[in-house]
Amino acid sequence: MFGSNNISDTTVSVCGDGDYISLYHSGQLKRFHAVWLRDNAPDPDTRSATNGQRLITLDDIPLDTRVSLTDLKDHSVVITFEPEGKSVEFDTDWLLANAYDNEPPAGVGWLDSTVCLWDASLADNLPCADLAVLQSDPVQLRDWLAGVATYGVGKLHGGAVRSGALFDVVDLFGYVRETNYGRHFEVRTEINPNNLAFTGLGLQAHTDNPYRDPVPTLQILYCLENSASGGENMVVDGFAVAGRLQQENAQWFDVLSRHCANFEYSGADGVRLRCSKPVIELDAEGRLSGVRFNNRSAAALTSVPFDEMPLYYNAWRRMAELIDDPSMEVSFKLEPGECFIVDNTRVLHARKAYDGSGTRWLQGCYADKDSLLSRLATLRVS
Ligand code: OGA
Ligand code: ZN
Repeated sequence: MFGSNNISDTTVSVCGDGDYISLYHSGQLKRFHAVWLRDNAPDPDTRSATNGQRLITLDDIPLDTRVSLTDLKDHSVVITFEPEGKSVEFDTDWLLANAYDNEPPAGVGWLDSTVCLWDASLADNLPCADLAVLQSDPVQLRDWLAGVATYGVGKLHGGAVRSGALFDVVDLFGYVRETNYGRHFEVRTEINPNNLAFTGLGLQAHTDNPYRDPVPTLQILYCLENSASGGENMVVDGFAVAGRLQQENAQWFDVLSRHCANFEYSGADGVRLRCSKPVIELDAEGRLSGVRFNNRSAAALTSVPFDEMPLYYNAWRRMAELIDDPSMEVSFKLEPGECFIVDNTRVLHARKAYDGSGTRWLQGCYADKDSLLSRLATLRVS
């Protein structure tokens, strides 16, 4: 009953009295539990053939589910589950792509293999494209979106010089995220600005709106006029900064990731936004998942223990120095009809001061990274 099957470089066998199967492929062993396999069965009684959504709940899976039989075919494995007596065919490539029998990542602050860290040398390879080309060519759009996903930043040129043209960029992949600043906001010098962004002051590299939960995950800044002197933009890879900080002193990285910082914005009537999150964010697996850095909206720290406050400030100060280090930044001056997009959970943006000898007018808006990644994924399969 618990035999093993073999086709070329693939072998499958039932193990542990049917608690799990072992799939050997090209010399690698991947084990899969019976309950996991039953839960992920692709048959039409388990998953809707129309939309792929699961039709059963965990309650529908018997507690004593086990595998009684496996049958290896050219590109699939047929698995029989007891006590249901149900046979289901799994695509072998799907099993290998979804295998979880892997070495757990060592330590904290690791990154997905799809992320490429960068410094000033990205200047020549920044993902750049013509907006009209992306509107008509799905392959070019796929490649540009892939660049944005990999580096957390991208530029576009050739857009319309028209108020609202920044929405053409969002339309490439998703939807605007509206906030109290509106569907979009004007970035130009105002008399009584409700945000320092709307002045001619320089802005230290920052992520936007860390006082929101959830934070907007994408930001677009689109240029309509830029004849003022100054006003260049800079972008910095916050993940590369966090990595450098960790290399220099692991305690600095740890203290910024183990305690929440506070962020606040109450610069306009009727708005009092507050959020408490770490400057360096790790997910439950220890993966580096986000960076929040914004001097303008940092509120008093209240979550850092007394004994750790000096270490925290040293770490934060060093992080700021690395962010300001010109060897980490890519800078450019946007022309009318040009824009850039950043992954606001990773890449910081900055602006040099500008003065009144000309005009500078940018429009900005937020959008969500999940829709960008969804668009990219669909372009990759089509
Ligand atoms: C902003 C901002 C930069 C600029 O509005 O969030 O950072 O180039 N602006 O004006
Ligand atoms: Zn900003």
